[in-house]
Amino acid sequence: MKLFEVLALSTACFVHTALADFATGSWPAPADLSSNSSLIHKAFVNITETLQEYILDESFGNVNSSAPELISGISNLTFSLGAFSFHDAAASKVLQYHYTAAEIATAGNGTTSVDADSIYRVASVTKVLTVLSGLINLSPTDWDRPLDDIFPILSSYQEAHPGGPFAVNWTAVTPRNLAAQISGVPRDGFPSLNELELLDALGQVDTTAMGLPPYNASDPLQNPPCLSYLIGNSSSSTGSAGGAAGNVQMCPADPYFESDANRPPSFNPWTSPGYANNGFSLLGLALANLTNTSFPDLVQKSVFGPLNMTSSNILTPPKSEWNRSVIAASSSPTTYFDIDAGVFAASGAASMTQNDMARLGEGILKSALLPMAETRRWLKPVSFTGRLQYAVGAPWEIHRYTLPNNKVVDLYTKSGDSGAYSAFLVLLPDYDLGFSLLSASSTLKLRFEVLAAIADVVAYTLVPAVDAQAAAEAMANFAGTYVSGNSSLTLIVNQTSTAPTTLGGLPGPGLVISNWTSNGMDVLTSQFTTYTGPRPYRLVPSVPLPASRPSFRLLTKVDEPSAQLPISDKLFSGPGFLSSDWVAVDALTYGGIGTTLFQFDVGSDGKATAVSPVAFRETLLKVKLL
Ligand SMILES: *[C@@H]1O[C@H](CO)[C@@H](O)[C@H](O)[C@H]1NC(C)=O
Ligand SMILES: *[C@@H]1O[C@H](CO)[C@@H](O)[C@H](O)[C@H]1NC(C)=O
Ligand SMILES: *[C@@H]1O[C@H](CO)[C@@H](O)[C@H](O)[C@H]1NC(C)=O
Ligand SMILES: *[C@@H]1O[C@H](CO)[C@@H](O)[C@H](O)[C@H]1NC(C)=O
Ligand SMILES: *[C@@H]1O[C@H](CO)[C@@H](O)[C@H](O)[C@H]1NC(C)=O
Ligand SMILES: *[C@@H]1O[C@H](CO)[C@@H](O)[C@H](O)[C@H]1NC(C)=O
Ligand SMILES: *[C@@H]1O[C@H](CO)[C@@H](O)[C@H](O)[C@H]1NC(C)=O
Ligand SMILES: *[C@@H]1O[C@H](CO)[C@@H](O)[C@H](O)[C@H]1NC(C)=O
Ligand SMILES: *[C@@H]1O[C@H](CO)[C@@H](O)[C@H](O)[C@H]1NC(C)=O
Ligand SMILES: *[C@@H]1O[C@H](CO)[C@@H](O)[C@H](O)[C@H]1NC(C)=O
Ligand SMILES: *[C@@H]1O[C@H](CO)[C@@H](O)[C@H](O)[C@H]1NC(C)=O
Ligand SMILES: *[C@@H]1O[C@H](CO)[C@@H](O)[C@H](O)[C@H]1NC(C)=O
Repeated sequence: MKLFEVLALSTACFVHTALADFATGSWPAPADLSSNSSLIHKAFVNITETLQEYILDESFGNVNSSAPELISGISNLTFSLGAFSFHDAAASKVLQYHYTAAEIATAGNGTTSVDADSIYRVASVTKVLTVLSGLINLSPTDWDRPLDDIFPILSSYQEAHPGGPFAVNWTAVTPRNLAAQISGVPRDGFPSLNELELLDALGQVDTTAMGLPPYNASDPLQNPPCLSYLIGNSSSSTGSAGGAAGNVQMCPADPYFESDANRPPSFNPWTSPGYANNGFSLLGLALANLTNTSFPDLVQKSVFGPLNMTSSNILTPPKSEWNRSVIAASSSPTTYFDIDAGVFAASGAASMTQNDMARLGEGILKSALLPMAETRRWLKPVSFTGRLQYAVGAPWEIHRYTLPNNKVVDLYTKSGDSGAYSAFLVLLPDYDLGFSLLSASSTLKLRFEVLAAIADVVAYTLVPAVDAQAAAEAMANFAGTYVSGNSSLTLIVNQTSTAPTTLGGLPGPGLVISNWTSNGMDVLTSQFTTYTGPRPYRLVPSVPLPASRPSFRLLTKVDEPSAQLPISDKLFSGPGFLSSDWVAVDALTYGGIGTTLFQFDVGSDGKATAVSPVAFRETLLKVKLL
């Protein structure tokens, strides 16, 4: 489509409500999370008091509790909650909450009172460490290398043992699609708690009663090479890492590969995301092979060491650290805590503290270990799921949260759930901050569901407060009138467009241009609007660095956030499709510079001193309030 057609259509479409703005924040990231006046701090206090109330209600059997149904059991869940920020180092110290349930309070081994230095297993949050170690150490060629080029045994075993229905094409499986859960490999390797044959052997299910045929010793898939490593050892433990059962260390890498080699895939690679613990076992083995370093050493050297995550481990923490470890089922530490995850290490073996989760989160957001462009690429989806609000990255589970003002905020999360431990790491790249949850219980059957309900309590109060704090800071730092000669620009935060939140209104989104005169001409009533689109015009951050000269882009009303889904029968011609902000960005130029580009001068106190509508080739100085 030609430029002017786009522009003409843009202006013709403004009567419709639409969707979205850019995939960026509406404001610069907030700098204050921890002070008593920060809206984020206030929200955090509300969150912790709410959780405390749910715990007390449950402990004392309050029939009138307003606790959500799924949170039932919270009083039996030991957990640690903490927030962290790139811009406010004190956040991780101030914004914490810890609750010790009876199981841990009375534990015979390990800590009896959790705090930010308590060591929990984090299960599949490990997968973040695995991918980060890969991003630091693998070349692009390594990322795209066929897995059977790294491990020829996969294809050679498959050829030597035909007979399955159809098998994974190991040439099309690569570290890159394994990391993004889109390789299609079988979900769990062997042994797996989801293997009915194994559960039958353990006496937990009756496969015959399910209508399944009897065990067939000559079926190659019913006799995976790992099986012989388990016989006589499988009943000693029900602990697990990454969906595995029993003494998983008994299966070394080669029989593990052989047990995988001729199984049918979930999908062809690059079809649909399909969660695969097995994929991460394979990725971890590939990383170790390609770097010639054991997986625990690789993560230590690449991530734990550089980020000073001194309390984190891939192997079980040393005995000297057990006094501050959260040991579920403490009379038998080997059940859930003292586990050698073997080939499952890269899928779910790590243990961490709240303080180390904050160091990891901050390290990612600061791009401490990767070039910034690489981190930005990492914090993007790789594929959709079948659900509009849920996408998948490597290994991110991306939840698309909608603010009360309809702006979409992407939460880059990784969940973990295995044995007696569940966890979440949650990053909000638009605001350079995040939060994490660690938890333990060997008795709660719905442990992960309870923790997910806690994550909802956190997200639905914290995220609007984060946006409101960012808006308040943007108002303090950028709003006002800027002048030069007979040019003038006034920016406001639109407080009347408030949407209700738990802590008051939510303005915005974006800094609204309420007045704009350039060289004596009123830009907002000039032909400029015919070519740019309908007002109000809002400025949102586009290129935040350098911090002393951040850039913003002007957005029109055409594609502004709205509750109305632009679907029905207009998936091509509806607002947000025919005329969308991402398509129109930088379309209109003057002398090679987009007319929507605004660059600020910002002092070390964070306050803007000048703005340049760059295409207009002028710099307007902020008018100081007298
Ligand atoms: C913040 O509030 C807490 C609790 O009310 C108080 O102890 C602390 O002194 C306050 N800090 C500041 C900097 O005002
Ligand atoms: C629960 O709420 C009902 C209705 O408000 C009230 O009658 C009852 O006394 C409350 N029960 C308790 C235990 O607070
Ligand atoms: C908490 O655990 C205790 C002891 O196992 C159990 O009796 C109680 O029902 C549990 N409470 C909830 C709400 O699950
Ligand atoms: C397996 O994948 C490779 C790489 O994509 C491809 O070249 C090959 O044709 C595939 N083999 C089969 C049997 O589909
Ligand atoms: C057992 O498996 C073998 C190999 O797949 C197959 O040929 C045979 O028919 C199976 N036997 C039964 C009873 O299903
Ligand atoms: C079972 O475990 C024991 C002790 O770790 C080991 O010596 C033995 O070889 C294992 N059995 C098999 C069949 O692998
Ligand atoms: C990597 O795997 C190949 C194939 O199994 C093997 O020959 C090689 O020794 C391994 N390299 C390392 C460093 O483990
Ligand atoms: C690393 O962490 C330890 C505590 O875990 C702390 O004592 C030390 O000061 C930290 N070092 C740096 C360089 O931050
Ligand atoms: C602590 O763990 C050991 C095994 O490491 C176990 O024998 C002991 O019973 C446990 N102690 C308590 C009080 O649970
Ligand atoms: C502020 O928001 C309200 C409600 O969305 C809207 O009607 C009004 O036009 C906005 N004002 C400006 C100056 O953008
Ligand atoms: C949290 O904030 C909401 C909304 O303002 C309020 O209704 C609720 O009572 C607060 N909860 C606590 C425990 O402060
Ligand atoms: C904004 O523009 C209006 C009309 O163009 C003018 O009356 C008003 O003084 C301007 N306000 C500022 C703050 O420049």
